[in-house]
Amino acid sequence: MAVLPIRIYGDPVLHSPATAVTDFDNDLHELVANMIETMHEAPGVGLAAPQVGVPLRVFVYDWTDGNTQHSGVAINPRLWLSPQSVEPLDEDAESEGCLSVPGERFPLRRAEHVLLHAFELSGQPFQIEASGWLARIFQHEFDHLNGVLYVDRLDLENNKASKKAIRKNGWGVPGYSWMPGEDNLEAV
Ligand code: NI
Repeated sequence: MAVLPIRIYGDPVLHSPATAVTDFDNDLHELVANMIETMHEAPGVGLAAPQVGVPLRVFVYDWTDGNTQHSGVAINPRLWLSPQSVEPLDEDAESEGCLSVPGERFPLRRAEHVLLHAFELSGQPFQIEASGWLARIFQHEFDHLNGVLYVDRLDLENNKASKKAIRKNGWGVPGYSWMPGEDNLEAV
């Protein structure tokens, strides 16, 4: 297994739709193993294949809620969302981060409940109903497979702040990545 460099906002692979997995082969097993190691090393609670430069519809996640660990891999996922609340944003409870925009966090409204349908590495289909933070993780990672980053979804004020942060870091152009375990950046 290997830790892989994580692409940063501006790299074209992050901003293009990924393609469906057709071969559940050894290469896919190796990719997923490396993604899991990279996610843990970062550390993060989710990672999508385009973030390590691979334009395939695969994400991994690992999040512990109290005593319950939620972890797995989702291949060729589909996602159904509940309607979003129209209450004002809670800047603390709804703040999100991304390993491809390292060190930054911005609040974003997400659907409270989702239904994830996807395939395991074995090719077996599965589905998970999720709420709260796990639902947020699924929405965030699913977006990555469509070339959408959470900063692309922010409201006007937060969008401006995120664009400023990205510019200040010199990102928003191709070619930037960071190496978990070597570069000391914080992200979730
Ligand atoms: Ni992300």
